[in-house]
Amino acid sequence: MLQRARPFRYMCRSDQAFVTLATNDNYAKGAMVLGKSLRNHKTSKKLAVLIGPHVSEPSRAVLQKLYDEVRLVDVLDSGDTAHLAMMKRPDLGVTFTKLYCWTLTHYSKCVFMDADTMVVTNIDELFDREELSAAPDPGWPDCFNSGVFVFQPSNETYNKLLQYCTEHGSFDGGDQGVLNGFFKDWATADIRKHLPFIYNMSSIAIYTYLPAFKQYGANAKVVHFLGKMKPWNYAYDPKQSTIKGGVQEGTTHPSYLLQWWSLYSSCVVPMLKEEYKDQPFNFFEPSCQEKEEEEVVQTTPQAQFSPPPLSSVERKQRWEQGQADYMGIDSFDNIEKKLAAFLK
Ligand code: UDP
Ligand code: GLC
Ligand code: MN
Repeated sequence: MLQRARPFRYMCRSDQAFVTLATNDNYAKGAMVLGKSLRNHKTSKKLAVLIGPHVSEPSRAVLQKLYDEVRLVDVLDSGDTAHLAMMKRPDLGVTFTKLYCWTLTHYSKCVFMDADTMVVTNIDELFDREELSAAPDPGWPDCFNSGVFVFQPSNETYNKLLQYCTEHGSFDGGDQGVLNGFFKDWATADIRKHLPFIYNMSSIAIYTYLPAFKQYGANAKVVHFLGKMKPWNYAYDPKQSTIKGGVQEGTTHPSYLLQWWSLYSSCVVPMLKEEYKDQPFNFFEPSCQEKEEEEVVQTTPQAQFSPPPLSSVERKQRWEQGQADYMGIDSFDNIEKKLAAFLK
């Protein structure tokens, strides 16, 4: 006799989960795409998202559809403006909120993923790793990047982390500084805790080691849109399936950007439309809130395409902070031209 297939939900291992964080509607868009990408690649794990009180009702409703668990948490902010200024990311104090993930003790093991990541294949094998496994940070490879990490929820660890924050603070003003201080033997103790870079591949690789990116980039399993400019800061033309303002031809990063937008427009926008009902809302432009923020710091997407000239020192600093102007002066084409000229 034929047995009915068990609904997918019941095949999930209930004590292991992918976890992400969104404190506002912009990062919520990222969490939606991440969740959808994990589902599309048939993860057998639960999906959990931590949200802050500023996430709107329609966004919460969409997250409810994509995630098994949507947990409202208080936003923790390091308030460490001095260190955050060194990274030119004053917005990242709230990443302390990530530490709440250790309180999800109804799971035995979790993989945290930033809301600006997207999986391009199934990565359930990460659950074979132990706490704290993570990939090297491209800026300082003896530190791990806290955009993707394997951890074991525990109230004891959570309390110790909070105590660590109180006593030592964070050397970057965000969670990554705390976590690298706390799990300080990561670089030297156990190579099994070093995740391959393909589990947290940021576009910086294109600019810092182009031949390696060409050689290995196709193996990427997780793409991380690290840096100030996130996919949702661009405008998209759904009819043409293009990024408005243009994407440099021949660059690989823009293809991931298009992949993000394609998932967003085909799977997330219909869900958002359902929640926003008749409210006029352009889902393909940066949100008003985002525009206001950008006006203050004067980095609208348009400004990104024709930025005021930077000194070479400023450009180097931006590169090192993952803020390459990959749509403009640091584009793949320009770098290729420079390399060709140099090799000649
Ligand atoms: N985040 C958030 N709200 C914010 C800033 C950050 O929810 O205002 C969360 C989100 O999950 C994000 C993560 O913290 O992916 C880390 O921040 P971000 O990805 O911007 O840092 P980057 O990887 O660019 O250094
Ligand atoms: C990093 C990580 C991000 C973290 C931030 C602040 O660049 O990519 O996940 O939240 O630093 O520490
Ligand atoms: Mn990130």
